[in-house]
Amino acid sequence: MKISVIGAGNVGATTAFLIAQKELGDVTMLDIVEDMPQGKALDMSEASPVELYDGAVTGTNDYEDLADSDVVVVTSGLPRKPGMTREDLLQQNAEIVGSVVQNVAQVAPNCILIVVSNPLDIMTYHAWKISGFPTERVVGQAGVLDSSRFRYFIADELDVSVEDISATVLGGHGDTMVPLPRYTTVAGISITELMDAPVIERLVERTRNGGAEIVNLLKTGSAFYAPAASVAQMVETIAKDKKRILPCSAYLTGQFGIHDVYIGVPVKLGAAGVEDILEIPLTDEEKQALTRSANTYRDGIALLGY
Ligand code: LAC
Repeated sequence: MKISVIGAGNVGATTAFLIAQKELGDVTMLDIVEDMPQGKALDMSEASPVELYDGAVTGTNDYEDLADSDVVVVTSGLPRKPGMTREDLLQQNAEIVGSVVQNVAQVAPNCILIVVSNPLDIMTYHAWKISGFPTERVVGQAGVLDSSRFRYFIADELDVSVEDISATVLGGHGDTMVPLPRYTTVAGISITELMDAPVIERLVERTRNGGAEIVNLLKTGSAFYAPAASVAQMVETIAKDKKRILPCSAYLTGQFGIHDVYIGVPVKLGAAGVEDILEIPLTDEEKQALTRSANTYRDGIALLGY
């Protein structure tokens, strides 16, 4: 497998390091800053004898070095600052992601694109349009991160291992996110059986604001350890054709009654990319929340002229 990561900032470099450690393939990191991706790649390679992983990690400033990548992760773009919403990044990041994807589509026309740049669901739609790829080969990372946050908050609240917690968070990666407590379990038991409604609501709210909570603490950037871990899990699922069911931003063609938008839904992720979208049964209220979220993102893609 040839796996490329665009952007060697905090998210990109951490993603590359995790992918290398998991030995999922050879990793190439590209950034526009001269020498920086080369330096970080060399640093990672020098960690390999201690961490015991084989496989090349290289850094580059040249898209030609990404030729024939199987998977390309796009992390490029500005992160938010305190007080900003992800949507505030729209125009600037659309330009950056647009030019990155144009280059990627030329050198790696058969790759699966994983988009991580914000505002996530809109950037994923934009990347799909610019790439000209079929929808199953363009997917956005957000639900794995959002459900990981939800799982951590539940584990912390109940004082149990994170290993037994499975969570489903759908909708857009923003204020309209739709965490689904009914489909969130501890060792198979729904959390609605284990926690009172106000406690669940508090954890749901914290999940929705999970990104902003970190931004407010860091002050100069946004989260990267959990986002990178989430991307690495998606890459692993694709590289090993595991067909895991993960919440990802995928293109909808009528599922849940929603059309022509990228939004977080349960996806079967495998070697072909988005191999299926699971249309799980939703209550009217859950469905409304998902539709509301989709409408927000439709407005966002309209701002880009789609
Ligand atoms: C977050 C940003 C990176 O959720 O979207 O942390």
